[in-house]
Amino acid sequence: MKRTTSAAEVLLAVTRKSGRSMREQLEHGLRSAIQAGRLAPGFALPSTRSLAADLGVSRGVAVLAYEQLLAEGYLTSVMGSATRVATVPRGGSHQAPPIVAARPPAYDFRPGAPDVSIFPRRAWLSSVRRVLAGAPHAALAYPDPAGAVELRTALSLYLNRTRGTLARGDAIVVCNGFAQGLRLVCEVLIQRGIRSIAVENPGHAGQRADIESVGIRTRAVEVDAEGMRIDRLRGSDVGAVLLTPAHQFPTGVVLSPDRRKALLDWASHRGAWIIEDDYDAEYRYDRGPVGALQGLAPDRVIYLGSASKTLAPALRLGWILAPPELVDRLALAKLHADHGSPTLDQLAFADFIERRGLDRHLRKARLLYRRRRDAMVAALRAHLPSLNIEGVAAGLHLMVTLPSGTSEEAVMDAAARRSMRIYGVGPHRKTPGAPALLLGYGSMTEAQIEEGMAMLARIIKSGRSGAAKPGGRRSTVWDPIERALTDRILASKS
Ligand SMILES: Cc1ncc(COP(=O)(O)O)c(C=O)c1O
Repeated sequence: MKRTTSAAEVLLAVTRKSGRSMREQLEHGLRSAIQAGRLAPGFALPSTRSLAADLGVSRGVAVLAYEQLLAEGYLTSVMGSATRVATVPRGGSHQAPPIVAARPPAYDFRPGAPDVSIFPRRAWLSSVRRVLAGAPHAALAYPDPAGAVELRTALSLYLNRTRGTLARGDAIVVCNGFAQGLRLVCEVLIQRGIRSIAVENPGHAGQRADIESVGIRTRAVEVDAEGMRIDRLRGSDVGAVLLTPAHQFPTGVVLSPDRRKALLDWASHRGAWIIEDDYDAEYRYDRGPVGALQGLAPDRVIYLGSASKTLAPALRLGWILAPPELVDRLALAKLHADHGSPTLDQLAFADFIERRGLDRHLRKARLLYRRRRDAMVAALRAHLPSLNIEGVAAGLHLMVTLPSGTSEEAVMDAAARRSMRIYGVGPHRKTPGAPALLLGYGSMTEAQIEEGMAMLARIIKSGRSGAAKPGGRRSTVWDPIERALTDRILASKS
């Protein structure tokens, strides 16, 4: 007998203990499921034979129930095919409302967004096929929360080769992107008595919020042209410092050799941890990237990396390369969080790295992003020559300082009206500072970059970029997805 749908799949049950006959119960169950929209129009019901067998009733009972509902117009049937729920529109609490995705803007200069259209689908698919065909059954059991051995090994070799780390596979904990890695680190640092962490100012707003959400205070430390002001750490009570040494987010500067040394000295003297966010170091266009700090102090540095910029944010693959004394605690925190990241994805990523797929992809990606950065710099110089472009030639975004008195919000709003999304630096500042924009070029074509920058110039020159509202409340939410969610929550409260 060819099975289509079973009784359990449509949540139907009958009982002999009820005062009603089996046929009545079945009829009633189906009718109310259709009325409530739980069974959607067009849905193919189980055959009477399999439904009867599943429910332990005679087939005649199921036949009579279907006939009744056919007569009432709830069901339709065509000879030789399954009985289906009729396409009569009915409202009901179970009717799933269609999910309407917000229409993306024509231009989105989101900082740090890679071009996901160049994701190496074919090579990735070969890796997925290979690991699914070859993985032992044990790979489908509950995983090692620290991650698949294959990926931890592949990552350690890759990071040592390309980032100058001193990594052993057993010092790596795989996590769901940098975002989860930071949370796990904070949980472990709290267990170790750490109550405050120094962060860069400006520095990533979301990370600051994540740290604070686990109950750790953040201390903002100014960033200048050489990176974080390490001298400001002296005398402070922080037990750790989070920073982006290879390419500071958002200003784009690189931590200078003197500051790197001063930071390592400070951390070893104070017994503090350095949390190194190495989010986009693979993309440096004017020279080779600076090596990771971790390679200089593997016992002090908690190194975090991610596939979000090199491959795709949707993979949610990240890693923590931790000092030996923290590894098991981080793995335990990961176990408590979610019992481990999906093993098949990890194995596919390991295979992809081992076969040099990541190296090949990055060679191509670097060329593309470099061209896009050049296009953006050229467009800014042509249309807005007075704006200062900050930072080094690296990464997937750049920062431009706006004329004083310009309101980031006003520029962003005017751009949004022209279907262009741009991002202010404001949310990333812990204390107010000069107005500036973050312009991501990773996911925009050269033509879009030119058009977008010309439009930005028209907005700024038109005087519609307004004066900053004195005393206006500064938003700390930069991400449009987060903003939409918080707006909906606020609206539902009012
Ligand atoms: C400064 C910084 N660090 C890390 C990341 C990577 O985060 P995730 O791996 O959670 O996508 C990002 C992504 O936007 C970032 O901007």
